[in-house]
Amino acid sequence: MNNVPQHVSIIMDGNGRWAKARGKERVYGHVAGVESVRACTEAAVEAGVKYLSLYAFSEENWNRPEAEVNRLMELMMEAIHNEVKTLLDNGVRFVVLGNRARLSASLNAAIDALMEKTAACARMTLIVFLSYSGQWDILQAVKKAAAEKGPEGVQAMTADDFAGYLVTAGIPDPDLLIRTSGEQRISNYLLWQCAYTEFVFSDVLWPDFRKPEFRAALETYAGRDRRYGKVK
Ligand code: IPE
Ligand code: IPE
Ligand code: MG
Repeated sequence: MNNVPQHVSIIMDGNGRWAKARGKERVYGHVAGVESVRACTEAAVEAGVKYLSLYAFSEENWNRPEAEVNRLMELMMEAIHNEVKTLLDNGVRFVVLGNRARLSASLNAAIDALMEKTAACARMTLIVFLSYSGQWDILQAVKKAAAEKGPEGVQAMTADDFAGYLVTAGIPDPDLLIRTSGEQRISNYLLWQCAYTEFVFSDVLWPDFRKPEFRAALETYAGRDRRYGKVK
């Protein structure tokens, strides 16, 4: 495949509707969605993608019913324990980005352990955005920059300098953003980082989004013409 995006990001949406369509509880859809994460991670590695990032839980998702939030956090914990070997075998570095202060101590410890174990993996980086929102990210960057640089330092900052304070510092901006389930909105995801990202919307619900759908999105991307505001 030519013109493979370096960084693919996915807003994994539609788990609840998938479950509801089967007469099941919403959490059943989240469980099924874990298999799609595995499939897309594999497909990304196979295609030569260097960064795959997944929007797993937004800051706004904390406002969901407590039972659903708890189950999502449990699923994250289970996935961390179950996927260690697959990640290591495939050379995948695991990174979690977001408002880590809101996660439980046990989940944070499990995340840190997996990040350490996979730190030397160099084939692909899998980034999971957990308790993340784009506005939160921009605000924490402003606060960190102001504390470090002071008013004059902040005045002298360029956009590139500022990007160094976002939680995604050092990670290239997404080339391709996929959103599943037919919704066509950003939902407070990577607001700064998606300045020139190509969007692909799929009607497929996340638990049904597997390798063929992922590859089809890469093909759609390959046909796009990116101009960055210039004349070609
Ligand atoms: C995406 O599926 C998973 C999370 C946001 C955590 P949803 O749970 O949003 O599923 P729908 O959109 O209600 O179908
Ligand atoms: C976006 O999905 C967040 C994640 C996929 C983690 P939501 O289902 O929360 O988004 P809205 O509420 O439909 O915009
Ligand atoms: Mg949703």
